[in-house]
Amino acid sequence: MSAADGHDTVLVVDFGAQYAQLIARRVREAHVHSEIVPHTISAEEIRARRPAGVILSGGPASVHVAGAPTLDAGIYDAGTPVLGICYGAQLLAQQLGGSVANSGVGEYGRTGLEATGAGSPLFDRVPTSFDVWMSHFDSIQDLPSGFRATARTAGIAIAALEHQERRIYGVQFHPEVMHTAFGQDLLKAFLYDVCGCRPTWTMTSIIDAQVDIIRAQVGDERVICGLSGGVDSAVAAALVHKAVGDQLTCVFVDTGMLRGGEPEQVEDTFLRQFAVDFVHVKAADRFLDALNDVLDPERKRTIIGQEFWRVFADAARDLGPSGPSERGTQGDARFLVQGTLYPDVVESGGGAGGASSTIKSHHNLVEFPEGLHFELVEPLRDLFKDEVRAVGEELGLPEHIVWRQPFPGPGLAVRIIGTITPERLEVLRQADAIVLDEVRRAGLERQLWQWFAVLPAIRSVGVMGDERTYGYPIIIRAVTSDDAMTADWARLPYDLLERLSNRIINEVPGVNRVALDITSKPPGTIEWE
Ligand code: XMP
Repeated sequence: MSAADGHDTVLVVDFGAQYAQLIARRVREAHVHSEIVPHTISAEEIRARRPAGVILSGGPASVHVAGAPTLDAGIYDAGTPVLGICYGAQLLAQQLGGSVANSGVGEYGRTGLEATGAGSPLFDRVPTSFDVWMSHFDSIQDLPSGFRATARTAGIAIAALEHQERRIYGVQFHPEVMHTAFGQDLLKAFLYDVCGCRPTWTMTSIIDAQVDIIRAQVGDERVICGLSGGVDSAVAAALVHKAVGDQLTCVFVDTGMLRGGEPEQVEDTFLRQFAVDFVHVKAADRFLDALNDVLDPERKRTIIGQEFWRVFADAARDLGPSGPSERGTQGDARFLVQGTLYPDVVESGGGAGGASSTIKSHHNLVEFPEGLHFELVEPLRDLFKDEVRAVGEELGLPEHIVWRQPFPGPGLAVRIIGTITPERLEVLRQADAIVLDEVRRAGLERQLWQWFAVLPAIRSVGVMGDERTYGYPIIIRAVTSDDAMTADWARLPYDLLERLSNRIINEVPGVNRVALDITSKPPGTIEWE
């Protein structure tokens, strides 16, 4: 049984750029279940999955580049509707006998489009001319046999093509990006009118399906869930609680690397509002000992990840209706809830063929220590972050939990460059609390993806009153993003920056300067370590 049971599924073929995730999200926004598959998938495998449609995503610059990804051409004969987008459109045109070439006219950014193919189901729901977002250098020069062009721009004659009987469509522009007017209408036309999909993928259906899946997986056994204070683990816990009630125990490990007030908030929500069986383990000392003098960011991550499992195992050992069992075993709990999301699955190779390299090892991917093994319950494995938030709201989690900004598993440890000491943690925690407070007062929380303070390992000279100071700077990092894969630095208003600077320097002892990080991702990452 899978989350998609009973729903139509559209497969999004990933050609290695970051368009596939966005397309998959847009499909789901149209209430149709979508899954990302690698371009190495065979026509046979596609047929076996019985998708309602297949979308070929954008990809590298040109089908002519050496090693450009291709596709099993049998897919075009599988009888399943196909929509190629940008690179996907060029690829299908070329594979079906048309030609793609560099005409010397590239189009980048907003471009006027004219729909020319009367009766095209794809353009049925949209005006005859509108702006689209383009990003291509090559273009389709000759149509494959039996195809017709259904749109053009000032620069290219074939901006869209189709073969209605074979149900194969292609668009040179990107309907999935916001800059394309009516892009979502166009996708809906493909999904509903061409593929015949029903819009059944809703929050209630996701929750109902997951509740059944969780019950089938765990039966009447005990389940434990590590709460991190983040959105994902909170929503996963609430979902499992809905499914199996008091078979669930939540273990909240206070690593000492959390934001100010966080342990109290988590405890309040789960213990008091949800009445979940809740264990709060205060383990800051263990983590600080393990991190003593560790400077390397990856080592910090590994140490925290592994220490987390050890603390967790100790807590698990003490659980169970039969009372605490022997030290080193894991009590009665065999199942462990994890808030793994779909992008984690895709990025770690579970979805898109493992093409992307590990940039930072994420906490939840650190392996279990020896002697410890849980069977994972991952009710969010199929969901994007915005869907997780919607599920959280539907389950009645409070707004400050559902809408909190993402927070990395290793916590403040990856925002302190250099040695982690209780004193430096306190400096960062205080500065961070001011950033949280001022951004909330400015009403900017929903516009930003993350906003926080970073403590570097340098000090500089300053003067306060008549005194020379030699203190740490605090770096403010605030970014906008859709999914953390790419991000832009947020243009925070000057008066907010001024308040942040004044308050941090006046209120946080040991800080004498405030700097602003104006780096996008790429080339930077969101976190500093
Ligand atoms: P970067 O810094 O790679 O972060 O641009 C992308 C997103 O992931 C979060 N992040 C982490 N989350 N464990 C986590 O659970 C980690 O080790 C980790 N490192 C980064 C980061 O906050 C951002 O949302």
